[in-house]
Parts: sequence; C-alpha cells; structure tokens
Amino acid sequence: MNIQEKTRKTLAELGVNDAQGVESLFAELRKTAEQERAELVSRPASDQLHRERLCRSLRDRWLARKGGFLSQVDENWLKTAGKELKPVAGRQFNELRRFAACMEFEKLVEAVPLQPEPLQQTNLSPASDAGRVVPGDLTLPGLRRPLGSIHPITRMQREIEEIFLRLGFWIEGGPEIESTYYNFDALNIPESHPTRDDWDTFYIDAKTVLRTHTSPVQIRAMEKYGPPLYIIIPGKCYRHDNPDATHYPMFHQIEGLAIDEDITFADLKGTLDFFAKMLFGEKVRTRFQPSFFPFTEPSGEVAVSCFVCGGQGCRVCKESGWIELMGCGMVHPEVLRNGGIDPDKYSGWAFGLGVDRFAMVKHDINDIQLLFQGDVRFLEQF
Ligand code: DAH
Repeated sequence: MNIQEKTRKTLAELGVNDAQGVESLFAELRKTAEQERAELVSRPASDQLHRERLCRSLRDRWLARKGGFLSQVDENWLKTAGKELKPVAGRQFNELRRFAACMEFEKLVEAVPLQPEPLQQTNLSPASDAGRVVPGDLTLPGLRRPLGSIHPITRMQREIEEIFLRLGFWIEGGPEIESTYYNFDALNIPESHPTRDDWDTFYIDAKTVLRTHTSPVQIRAMEKYGPPLYIIIPGKCYRHDNPDATHYPMFHQIEGLAIDEDITFADLKGTLDFFAKMLFGEKVRTRFQPSFFPFTEPSGEVAVSCFVCGGQGCRVCKESGWIELMGCGMVHPEVLRNGGIDPDKYSGWAFGLGVDRFAMVKHDINDIQLLFQGDVRFLEQF
C-alpha cells in the first residue's frame, strides 16, 4: 500500500496502535513530500506557465482542502485516533503542517528550472559584438533571478558590530592562516603546556596553523597601533573537531579588546552588561563567574538571564535560566608586554564570543551544521 492509500485509512485500519507506529507513518509521509519536491525541482519545465502548473498540482496534492494529504490525515488519522494515540498524532500532525509550510509551494515556482531559451528570445548576442541587437521579440520579459537573503551569521555579526561601533570601538581583522607564535605563544600559551590541547587545530606546517580563535589579532593590533585601543575582531576560526550538532571545524568568533590607562574590571562588567541589554533587551541580567584563560587574569565567563523565559527555565536555556555568552577577563600583563605595551602604565580587558552560537540561541536553531550546508529551504527563513 503506498502512502497515498494509507492516508485514506484510519490508524486502526492500518493496524497502527502505538506511538512508534504513528511516528514512522508520519515520517514516511514527510519523506514522500521531500522526494516529490526534489523531483519537481530536478526536471526543467518548458515555460513559466508550465512550471506554475507543476507547482500548483504538487501544492494541491498536499494542501487541498478536499482530498489533499494533510486534510486526509486530519480526517482519517487524527480525528479517529484513540485516546492514547491522540497526543502523539496531534504533535506529529503539527510538525507535518510546519514541514509543509516550509516547502513553500509558492516560492517553489522559482526553484523549478526552465528549459534553455531558444536563440531568438535573447536580445543580445555574445560579448564579441556586445551591444548589437539581434532580431527577436524585444518586448519579451527578461530573466528574473531570485533574490537571496543575508546569512544568519552575517546578520548576527553585524548586529553585534553595530553595538560596539556605537560605543566607539572600531573593527579590526587578521589572517586566518596564522603563526603558532601569534595563535599560542604570544597569548601566554607556551608549547608543551596542556592548555594548547583546548585549541587543537589544523597545522599547515610546524609553525603555521589555521587560527583557533580571533585572539591572535589582539597582539597584531597592539603591535600595529599601540595604546589606547578599543577594537572588536570578527572572523572565521578553525578547530580539529568532528562535526555534530554543536561542533563544526570552522566557526565564527568576535573578539573584543579595550586597552587604556586605568581600565578596570568594572569597565569590563559595565560594557558587557550594556552589550547584553542592547542585544537581548533591557530586562536581561548578566552573571560573571570565575574561569581560566591563559591570556587573561583574572578570567571569567559571562552568562545572560534567558531572554525567552526571563530566567524561569525553558528549552532555550536548557532549564537553567542562564545562557552562556562568552569568555572574558583582564588582559594578562605578559600578553600586553608581548604586544609591546607597558603593563605598568596600561591595562585592558578582552572577551571572545561565538557568533554561530549566538545565532543559534537567537533563532532557536538546534544544529550548527544547518548554518553551513547552504540549503535554501533553511536559509530562506531568515
Ligand atoms: N579565545 C578564547 C577561545 O577561543 C575566547 C576568549 C576568552 C577570548 C577570554 C578572550 C578572552 O579575549 O578574554 O576560547
């Protein structure tokens, strides 16, 4: 029995009598939807009307009030489900509806390729005689390319940059291929020190790595400009991690660094508290806990009270009421010295945060890999 036939029968008729059975039935249906969508966008349509018709028929098949899969499922699986199966069937049905909405049948039209246009429809001939008008119907509409959108990580990065730009910081960059000196030694992470393991990365040769954090740009900026210094450093970083829901071998950080005379921990707390309120709303509170980083002393971790539940505990904050934001601390005197700055005259604070994590928390994205797979169905939502 194919899935279409199954949607015309009740759960009892299908012999489904436990939650697992219901879930696999719905999974089968979602898989079918994906397959049909993939099939649709893999075959070129002959013209605009044709592709609109193809899309409409797919949409009707799934969403038509009368006889569409979703309404069949509603009638036959959901309404007739027994007491114990109702909750799971209801949940699955909602998920299916969200899923169907994500398929965005209207937008699909743009995704269906068109057969190459016959020559007389192109108004201009190739570059060699550019500008020469070839006989043909000049009133034909041009090809319209679908517009993309700003990637959620870029968007997050810009939001964070805005806040610090308003505070008078400027934006600095540095190389992604970095020497072990800047990536480790200058930051007080000597060779053979066990803490180097925390930043394990890809080596190009014994003295060159893909940078593991944006912190090396702290030293580069100190050398380049000297004090006073108020900068943030956004950029890509790399680690020797296997990809899973929370890890990816490439990710994004923003580093912050403030160096001046008489900079204290109070400046650090005040600035980061202001930053959290600007980004997550006036109501959030910040929490500073002691931590360890070789390049700061003292070091801390900053958390913000959950902006979704207000600190009561929810899915986003994993019931803790707090969301970890970043590592921070007062720049270690040795690090200042390595950057050519006199620690007796100047002091500073620094922080490092993960942009990808920020975007995931903000948009409730549960798998970091989604951010880098380039799937338009995911990216279109932002
Ligand atoms: N570089 C650290 C990391 O990647 C993050 C960090 C922590 C940066 C504290 C800092 C800092 O500037 O002060 O794990």
